[in-house]
Amino acid sequence: MTLSHSMLAMEISAPGGPDVLKPVSVPVPVPGHGQIIIRVAYAGVNRPDALQRAGAYAPPPSASPLPGLECSGTVVEVGPGVTRWQIGDKVCALLPGGGYAEYVATPAAHALPVPTGMSMRDAACLPETCFTVWSNVVMRGGLAAGERFLVHGGTSGIGTTAIQIARALGARVFATAGTDEKCKVCTDLGAEAALNYRTEDFTAALKAEGGANLILDMVGGGYIERNIKALADDGRLVQIAFLQGAKAEINFAEVMMRRLTITGSTLRPQSDLAKARIAAEVEVHVWPMLASGALKVVHDSEYDLNDAPAAHWRIEAPGHVGKIVLKVEN
Ligand SMILES: NC(=O)c1ccc[n+]([C@@H]2O[C@H](COP(=O)([O-])OP(=O)(O)OC[C@H]3O[C@@H](n4cnc5c(N)ncnc54)[C@H](OP(=O)(O)O)[C@@H]3O)[C@@H](O)[C@H]2O)c1
Repeated sequence: MTLSHSMLAMEISAPGGPDVLKPVSVPVPVPGHGQIIIRVAYAGVNRPDALQRAGAYAPPPSASPLPGLECSGTVVEVGPGVTRWQIGDKVCALLPGGGYAEYVATPAAHALPVPTGMSMRDAACLPETCFTVWSNVVMRGGLAAGERFLVHGGTSGIGTTAIQIARALGARVFATAGTDEKCKVCTDLGAEAALNYRTEDFTAALKAEGGANLILDMVGGGYIERNIKALADDGRLVQIAFLQGAKAEINFAEVMMRRLTITGSTLRPQSDLAKARIAAEVEVHVWPMLASGALKVVHDSEYDLNDAPAAHWRIEAPGHVGKIVLKVEN
């Protein structure tokens, strides 16, 4: 197949608000060793894209400067050394960047087949959240059946996925969200209880249950100390973002006396091999949850690629529930 040499993409013209996202014509990427080129059908929009746009989350040195960490689409080129994929395969993939474009390059090992019967729109919502949730909740956090699991931001893309995966693993799930309506979404997804963090004290609620064995937190700041108090003895706190700040004063005597673990990770800077390992686990453990209906995509809204600024206004406003996507292929 002969690809055109240039493509439409949305670039970050300067660090700033959503309107700095501008359409540009750029060269179509060329696949390196072990890479595939995907013609993008839909690109997922994630909070880290907004951070990158604002100048607070620089892409790794070898990554595309274009935003976009996940997509669905069709394989249109395979680089040397790629054996799994062929031209025409429908995939969804974790991307090092570059998803807000008609074509994108990514390591072949970071792509997974579009789950049977799933739309390309929903498939674009899977990679970033499934990789992040599985790697932090299970590979790092070690969540086991019967444990009490608390996730903050329960209606975020990450939160909606974490609630369902933890429930499918047999954990008792608790979530926080900013309104009663959002709390209802969390319980509908399988949370045993959801706490409106504006009116309820999640620390007291979890302590009344015996404490959380695992907390997945994206808020940070003042939540760090409260999370530590909400943990059961031997509990684990996994930090994946800091919406309220990365610094806190904590009493490490409590960490020591109650044998707590404080850890965390970000997906994007990890090695290609580490992401390939996560992809393999996600395919084995999470794809069957999609097939059985235990995990469903919670879709918020769809915008055309040219409307990426509107998608960013939406993800940074408090109203959205679940995933936002950009429609790229017409
Ligand atoms: N470490 C990683 O590898 C990784 C990967 C992907 C995403 N992330 C992070 O995970 C988070 C979720 O990502 P996403 O793409 O799913 O974003 P998202 O849908 O925009 O979710 C953000 C959520 O945070 C909640 N929130 C915002 N400000 C808050 C505050 N001050 N206190 C409590 N909750 C607050 C919001 O819920 P309410 O409206 O209910 O407050 C919202 O549901 C982001 O912070 C993102 O940067 C980390």
